[in-house]
Amino acid sequence: MEERIVATTNQDEDTLFDVNLRPERLSEYLGQTKVKEKVGIFIEATKRRKEALDHVLLYGPPGLGKTTLAHIVANELGVKIYSTSGPVIERVGDLASILTNLNEKDVLFIDEIHRLNRIVEEYLYSAMEDYKIDIMIGEGPTAKSMKVSVNKFTLIGATTRTGLLTSPLRSRFGVDLRLDYYSSDEINGILNRSSKILGVELTKDGAKELASRARGTPRIANRILKRVRDYAEVKADGVINLDVAGSALEMLEVDSLGLDGLDRAILEAIINKFNGGPVGIDTLSSAVSEERDTIEDVYEPFLVRQGLIVKTPRGRAATPLAYDHLGIDLPQMQKGLFNS
Ligand SMILES: Nc1ncnc2c1ncn2[C@@H]1O[C@H](COP(=O)(O)OP(=O)(O)OP(=O)(O)O)[C@@H](O)[C@H]1O
Ligand SMILES: [Mg+2]
Repeated sequence: MEERIVATTNQDEDTLFDVNLRPERLSEYLGQTKVKEKVGIFIEATKRRKEALDHVLLYGPPGLGKTTLAHIVANELGVKIYSTSGPVIERVGDLASILTNLNEKDVLFIDEIHRLNRIVEEYLYSAMEDYKIDIMIGEGPTAKSMKVSVNKFTLIGATTRTGLLTSPLRSRFGVDLRLDYYSSDEINGILNRSSKILGVELTKDGAKELASRARGTPRIANRILKRVRDYAEVKADGVINLDVAGSALEMLEVDSLGLDGLDRAILEAIINKFNGGPVGIDTLSSAVSEERDTIEDVYEPFLVRQGLIVKTPRGRAATPLAYDHLGIDLPQMQKGLFNS
């Protein structure tokens, strides 16, 4: 599959590139003011009491900084962090060995925590609550289960889908933090920080242009910056100004709202093939030859958030804004739809 420049998923190229762009301290973590303020207070209070921090649940769309924040919390507390993810912990034994290896106050970070299997999840409950786990001693008929204590740790769970979290698990988190999309100003700040680290000159209006197309997502902002930097080095004198930003993004097919080719193909299909909708998700997915799940999880949320499509019980419909964005005249019939 071709990589999307505006993809929110963590693609391989990010990993290396991110190493130095990922903030390590709370003061370098830009935006998310409310979340930051809370985290700052919890950290301070925890340090004073010399206790382990309460378990924290982080949720929000991909690429907004959940993993980053988990690492920052551990750094600020001065403890070690052990990172894993829901689907990786296949058996209770895997979890038991992780838990017994944690030191007092360490952070255990479980990404995609909604994907833990049920048995492992239930095993986690008593660890979270009483810092006790059951361990099997011996084998076969003589085997018996024994309760052992584990060090007091902090679980930080991250998920993009809170709806999929069971309520017993959710209720065991003392702190619940929701990350939201960043404002253009905040993305602007992140771009400026990243450009300094990368040693690329980014003018004020260049930054503004990139920020307006980054979908309020730091991961996308950083990826766009990197690609545009390449363009600036080859085609201009390395400086990213408004002109360079504009033509680079055009080449990369990221438009003024941050939409890429497939986003536009979806809008065009709804408008041109299905008279503006409503059209069912399955029909739409075959019209643009993209999997239904991908459309629902990746493309649609952004298009809905931008007010370009609406979800109705009968399917997805293009809004007047979508017609306007694609430069297509809004048919009389659709006008009625949105005026009523
Ligand atoms: N508040 C921030 N300030 C500066 N940079 C940030 C911030 N949040 C995220 N970033 C940058 O964006 C990148 C993506 O963030 P991160 O990997 O933490 O997202 P995530 O929410 O864990 O995504 P996923 O749901 O895909 O795991 C980071 O590597 C970092 O470079
Ligand atoms: Mg992550």
